[in-house]
Amino acid sequence: MSARLPTLLPVVLVLTGCTGMQSAMNPAGEEAEQVSWLLWGMTGFLGLVFVFVLVATGVALMGSERLRLRMARDSFILGLGLVFPAVALTVIFFFGLSVQAERAWPDGRVPALTATITGEQWWWRVVYEGPDGARIASANELRIPVGESVRLNLETADVIHSFWVPNLAGKLDMIPGRTNVMTLTATKPGTYRGQCAEYCGGAHALMSFHVVALPPDDFAAWQAAEAGPAVMPVTPELERGAQIFAEIGCGACHTVRGTGADGTIGPDLTHVGSRLSLAAATLPNNAEAFARWIRDNQHIKPENKMPAYDILSEQELTLLAHYLESLE
Ligand code: CUA
Repeated sequence: MSARLPTLLPVVLVLTGCTGMQSAMNPAGEEAEQVSWLLWGMTGFLGLVFVFVLVATGVALMGSERLRLRMARDSFILGLGLVFPAVALTVIFFFGLSVQAERAWPDGRVPALTATITGEQWWWRVVYEGPDGARIASANELRIPVGESVRLNLETADVIHSFWVPNLAGKLDMIPGRTNVMTLTATKPGTYRGQCAEYCGGAHALMSFHVVALPPDDFAAWQAAEAGPAVMPVTPELERGAQIFAEIGCGACHTVRGTGADGTIGPDLTHVGSRLSLAAATLPNNAEAFARWIRDNQHIKPENKMPAYDILSEQELTLLAHYLESLE
């Protein structure tokens, strides 16, 4: 056991990456299926070549005299050493190109949903184009309808980031001054995890997100709710939390639609309580995590732009955290 462990460990680690909500080997979108095709097509073909080379080596070492003489002929060496690799690599090249070509956006196809995603150190600004042309701001989470094409305009506010949801599509960089367009079509409902795939500073590893693919009707219902203003506080405690939010100036950086808070430096918090995670998929979404983030965010995600609010009393922090959690 102990002797085998070091050799088995990498295999186990590699295989655990094959399933689940963040894996290129578990495609749930048309684009990821093409990437998967490319992977398995090339792996299969190169596997056959590898086996053939092993067999040929075995024959060259241990085969009969007659076979070995045949393998020593010029025609054999030229054929399998020169012609075969040239033909095989050409075939693979065009196979790759044909798969890539399918990823190009077909002319005239109208996306069912368009959203602009902006990479920021270290979170994701998400702005949906609503059905009536309204722009609906959110963050760190993208919801899309299953079976429909989605157009993502990928931009950055600072350095190069890279948008990657392995289950849905290949990665695409976000480059300063450019808008890179990615198209996605989810084929299965589900929640998929994404990760910034380009080193973008100290907290790069803490720059994750979720994509939730919903049946079209559920998506439409969600989108209508998301476009609306924030819920008003319904208890005296929540009201006090909202007051603290206003008093300490959270609205200078964050928007809560329907209140006076209209800052745009940090994530829009209008419906933050309904998201799957906090702080770009680094914390769970509950009152305790809100409190931790407000007080300790510089420890959780060092050098992020939000100051640590350790001036708040424990009670104020709890009230504020519950108010934020209530923003569903
Ligand atoms: Cu953003 Cu790495």
